Amino acid sequence: MSESSKENTKWMMRAISLASLGKGKTSPNPMVGAVILDKNKNLIAEGFHHKAGAPHAEAMAFNNLKKDAKGGSMFVNLEPCCHQGKTPPCVDKIITSGIKKIYISIEDPDKRVSGKGIKLLKAAGIQVDLGLCKKESLELNKAFIYKNITNKAFGVLKWAMSIDGRIGLKNGNSKWITNEDSRSLVHSSRAEFDAIIIGGNTLRKDNPLLTTRGLKTPEPLRVVFTKTLDLPIKSNLWDCNEAKTLVIYDSSTANESFLSLIPKCVEVEKVCSDNPELISKLLAKRGCNKVLWECGPRLATAAIKSNCIQEIITFIAPKILGGENSMNPFGDFEFREMHEIIKLSNSHVSLISNDICVKSSLKN
Ligand SMILES: NC(=O)c1ccc[n+]([C@@H]2O[C@H](COP(=O)([O-])OP(=O)(O)OC[C@H]3O[C@@H](n4cnc5c(N)ncnc54)[C@H](OP(=O)(O)O)[C@@H]3O)[C@@H](O)[C@H]2O)c1
Repeated sequence: MSESSKENTKWMMRAISLASLGKGKTSPNPMVGAVILDKNKNLIAEGFHHKAGAPHAEAMAFNNLKKDAKGGSMFVNLEPCCHQGKTPPCVDKIITSGIKKIYISIEDPDKRVSGKGIKLLKAAGIQVDLGLCKKESLELNKAFIYKNITNKAFGVLKWAMSIDGRIGLKNGNSKWITNEDSRSLVHSSRAEFDAIIIGGNTLRKDNPLLTTRGLKTPEPLRVVFTKTLDLPIKSNLWDCNEAKTLVIYDSSTANESFLSLIPKCVEVEKVCSDNPELISKLLAKRGCNKVLWECGPRLATAAIKSNCIQEIITFIAPKILGGENSMNPFGDFEFREMHEIIKLSNSHVSLISNDICVKSSLKN
């Protein structure tokens, strides 16, 4: 790699690292960072998109300019926007700034922008270099990209289990399988997500809080998917001062007379079947890029079958629950041949005190 391409990679990686500071706060928007160099390649400004509704990364960088950008260059991890949204088009600002060259890592999958921003920059005489640090940029914004292509929220399924692969006792007792450090890690990692989903039975058995314990404001949306609407009168999820809660019910099976028992502060939406894909679509429409499924075996199996899960996080504790009286993380997938089973890829393994955490991707 030449000295100048090493320098360019360094600046694009800086833009990506700035972008990642917006993790968990930018949905429905992507995470974007921008760096501006003067004509002598000295850093004169940087910025990132802090949260949805706030100025875009490019605008933030222009606001922070220490000197004239004329003849300089810009590094940005996503194609600049060219449409009027909550904020003015970034392309216009870049053109009027007199910047000579722009390095863009990846095109924006948003149909309102995709390729059009680059076209306008080129038409204004700005040199455009597309593709620098593409792999890293695709990884950073994979949930945003997935949602834009599929109209579904990117799903991560998380569960905790014993070393013999059991998630709790059949009488519903599952507190606690993993150690305190693993549980704190779960609380803090919830901050990366726009919503946390469970099924009605986990609500009845566990009465969870599903919050980051104050690490993120506002807290992620808490979602309960129910076929019956037979939910407890008292529940931690009904305390909307902690976080917002949304109940989604299947109108083809639910007893709608139970609706009156749900507190007024809780939002309710109905869908026409128990297909978890409807949840992924509904949450994407509400602006969620990335959602965490923290459900039990029945909803987890249905969510995998309907391609709602793109990644998994498993915590494995050195405990044995035994067979008959304990639960598997999944129900039956009806596999009969080894070529049918679900194979995971990109696995990362880490130790959390004496627990093991495995993160993997699912191909679907
Ligand atoms: N160790 C762990 O990581 C972990 C995590 C979560 C849960 N758990 C344990 O898992 C147990 C609950 O398991 P579960 O499988 O009943 O979990 P669940 O998360 O409650 O999912 C099942 C419930 O989801 C609703 N649902 C909506 N659409 C569905 C569909 N297509 N298929 C299946 N369910 C659908 C139903 O609610 P309604 O009944 O309201 O209609 C159903 O009872 C609890 O004992 C809990 O402690 C363990």
